[in-house]
Amino acid sequence: MDLQTSPDLLSAVGRTPLVAFTGFSQAPGARVWGKLESFNPGGSAKDRTARALVQDATERGVLGPGSIVVESSSGNLGVALAREAVVGGWKFHCVVDRRTNQATLAHIRALGATIHEVTEPDPETGDWLTARRTRVAELKDELGAINLDQYSNRAAFDAHSEGTMREIVAQLGHAPDVLVVAVSTTGTVGGCARYIAEHGLHTRVVVVDAVGSVLFGGERGQRILPGYGAGVVTDLSRETTPDDIVRVTAAEAVDAARALAKSTGFLPGASGGAVCVGVEKCLHDDPSAEIVAIFHDDGRAYLDTVYNDEWVERNVR
Ligand SMILES: Cc1ncc(COP(=O)(O)O)c(C=O)c1O
Repeated sequence: MDLQTSPDLLSAVGRTPLVAFTGFSQAPGARVWGKLESFNPGGSAKDRTARALVQDATERGVLGPGSIVVESSSGNLGVALAREAVVGGWKFHCVVDRRTNQATLAHIRALGATIHEVTEPDPETGDWLTARRTRVAELKDELGAINLDQYSNRAAFDAHSEGTMREIVAQLGHAPDVLVVAVSTTGTVGGCARYIAEHGLHTRVVVVDAVGSVLFGGERGQRILPGYGAGVVTDLSRETTPDDIVRVTAAEAVDAARALAKSTGFLPGASGGAVCVGVEKCLHDDPSAEIVAIFHDDGRAYLDTVYNDEWVERNVR
């Protein structure tokens, strides 16, 4: 048995399980794997991103004990940076909006970070992410803080190229036919796609975006679920060309998340539900494909939303 110790919590990031899932409409012999990023110490793939952003800023000499960092997050990066701040001895201010799960906010606060909640969308575009980034710029000046900027910082690619995708290939012993990834900053998919290109792998990259997200040519609209989709075209997204795009509504994501929980026992988060819709589409296109789906987090922080009938009835139906 390969049991390891970790010298600290930060070095426990990564090496997440890749689990075979049945319960999709698979042809006999087809394999669907879930890369379960909820097994990271902070419960999401953003632990990897935070590690890479912090390591990069530390190496560049702009971040160290006593620094103040301000960052916009839909929640998961906030949790990861709050932990990095504790270990690194700096202060963290997290800018969120009203869509962030209450459990995630409580997690960030419990780690000692300060939360700034944006209560109105950007007046010009109606977009929440734009409003968050405006607040980040204000706080940067007010606090004399630095901003790691997860939307344009290419260090995120390193986390998912050398981490997530390298692990997937090592765990399988070969490259999968298809990789299905939910997108927001697009750091995860961009890093995985970079690894695939650099190693000449045949893996097709399918991104799962929200209906209403403007990424990859999408049309702006209302989005209710946190985690996947974006209201601005991120700098990172300009560097990735996916093989296919699946746009998923909140209702589809909720239904698929609930169905996966009942068919596999794994409780996905909101973007995980959307990813399941992407997996079904890929199986429809090629029923015998070997597919790896990245589950960025799990559903524990979504018990009051995605898994709450009243909330779903009020907000999604
Ligand atoms: C739950 C969840 N899913 C998917 C994503 C998308 O990841 P990325 O920002 O790397 O595109 C995020 C990012 O915050 C997330 O929190």
